[in-house]
Amino acid sequence: MYWLILSAALWMLAFHQAGLAQTNETCLACHQVEGTKVRFPAGGEIDVTVDPKKFAASVHAPLTCVTCHTDQADYPHRPVKAKTARSYHVLAQQICATCHADQAKVFEASIHGQGLRMGLADVPTCTSCHTAHAVVRPKTAAFRNNIPETCGNCHSEAAVMGRYGLRPVYQAYVEEFHGVTTRLYRLVTPLAPSPSAVCYDCHTAHAVRRPADPASPVAPANVLATCRTCHKTAGRFFATAWNEHQAPSMRHSPLVYMVQLFYKILIPGVVGLLAVLTALDLWFWAVTRWGGRKA
Ligand code: HEC
Ligand code: HEC
Ligand code: HEC
Ligand code: HEC
Ligand code: HEC
Ligand code: HEC
Ligand code: HEC
Repeated sequence: MYWLILSAALWMLAFHQAGLAQTNETCLACHQVEGTKVRFPAGGEIDVTVDPKKFAASVHAPLTCVTCHTDQADYPHRPVKAKTARSYHVLAQQICATCHADQAKVFEASIHGQGLRMGLADVPTCTSCHTAHAVVRPKTAAFRNNIPETCGNCHSEAAVMGRYGLRPVYQAYVEEFHGVTTRLYRLVTPLAPSPSAVCYDCHTAHAVRRPADPASPVAPANVLATCRTCHKTAGRFFATAWNEHQAPSMRHSPLVYMVQLFYKILIPGVVGLLAVLTALDLWFWAVTRWGGRKA
């Protein structure tokens, strides 16, 4: 590992003196070596390993490393400006914004973007959902089928969500019809995109808002229109079929809850009864057989 870094350093020196541009190979000679970390003075660390295979398969493969990392063209690199890992990620988001200004502008106005501006520690940056060096086309089936887990990284964490007065909705989503179907696509047919609703079909991807915000696609006045993008013939009361990201209980979807409860009692009951019958049968068999021989 050390000889790799050393030979790369010598290489860089040679190229630097020859005044040649840095190629991705020069950067990757050091950066594909696993385990190098940067520790920040006020907390946190980042791993500086970049997987060359994933980068080569990403949408940005034609770009050079220095297109995005203008400050790190030379080695030794300039000292890192950020004081914490979190502020490093937040600053680095500007890199994506330089080329994708439209998405960045929409994102800034969202609940997540507003949170970033306010310095909230748990809201996503571009790379939370897209990664930095393995960015794939969002239209691919793999990206779409994995969305519940991408959002679920945070929205399944009761402790994190609790800080913002929110419920962890992921668990209820994977148990409702849309979630069950999407999960099946993810496991069984990863090459076909789920036709069912994933998080961004209802909430959008970059313009996520609070459901109470009138501009949200899931605000009470808009939610039916959002369902109708797929359920074309949905009637006036269709949206009330929605489980509101709540697991069924006597308060939420009591009918579903009672059906589930019925099966929870019925199935163990039937299996238990069968077990008792089998045991009785075996006992009867044993008694007639061994009982008979003794006689
Ligand atoms: C000789 C080995 C070596 C080479 C070559 C190298 N790096 Fe680094 N890089 C490191 C090490 C070690 C770190 C950890 C922080 C430090 O020591 O500066 C790092 C950190 C980084 C970081 C994270 C810290 C920061 O400053 O944001 C980036 C980004 C980076 N390198 C980009 C590049 C790019 C782009 C190239 C090619 C132009 C490159 N590196 C070439 C060894 C190298
Ligand atoms: C499309 C722009 C882009 C390209 C191309 C790119 N990077 Fe990055 N890189 C980023 C962003 C954005 C971050 C910050 C990610 C974050 O939040 O940690 C980053 C972070 C890094 C880091 C710090 C560790 C980390 O993951 O945060 C290293 C090291 C690095 N890049 C090296 C490279 C190397 C080597 C290449 C070329 C093979 C490369 N980058 C190509 C955008 C890019
Ligand atoms: C130097 C400019 C540049 C930077 C910086 C950059 N990108 Fe890109 N990005 C591109 C180009 C060029 C494409 C390919 C466009 C195409 O072919 O549709 C692309 C494509 C994409 C796509 C796929 C778009 C689609 O319609 O399928 C996503 C997602 C993406 N980039 C996200 C990011 C993220 C996240 C960052 C920050 C880590 C980033 N980009 C930084 C130039 C850039
Ligand atoms: C890195 C963690 C993270 C990821 C990933 C993430 N979120 Fe969030 N999200 C948050 C946090 C934290 C808040 C609370 C922000 C606040 O209250 O200011 C939030 C707020 C929300 C809200 C507003 C809830 C309310 O009533 O205030 C919605 C809706 C939402 N996210 C949906 C999504 C969707 C959809 C995705 C995926 C496309 C996603 N989130 C990905 C962390 C995340
Ligand atoms: C909460 C997760 C999340 C965050 C944060 C996020 N994206 Fe996306 N992004 C997505 C999803 C999901 C899609 C696919 C949307 C679709 O197909 O309708 C997407 C699509 C894209 C595309 C493809 C073109 C388009 O608009 O559909 C680009 C480019 C992109 N994002 C760049 C960015 C940039 C730049 C940032 C940071 C400013 C960012 N994204 C932040 C989830 C996210
Ligand atoms: C992206 C498209 C899409 C959106 C948006 C969408 N659904 Fe669905 N929904 C589906 C698909 C496809 C199915 C059938 C497969 C399944 O069960 O997942 C379905 C199934 C259902 C079912 C189960 C009964 C049936 O008709 O099969 C109900 C109830 C339902 N959706 C309600 C809603 C509600 C309420 C909304 C709006 C809050 C909504 N859906 C938004 C695609 C969508
Ligand atoms: C079929 C449409 C639909 C899908 C799919 C969907 N949501 Fe929602 N979501 C809603 C509606 C409608 C509301 C507002 C009413 C409510 O709380 O149920 C909501 C509310 C929320 C809230 C606020 C919860 C709170 O505690 O106030 C968050 C956060 C959220 N959704 C995130 C997600 C995430 C993450 C996913 C994917 C795992 C997702 N949603 C999938 C329709 C949807």
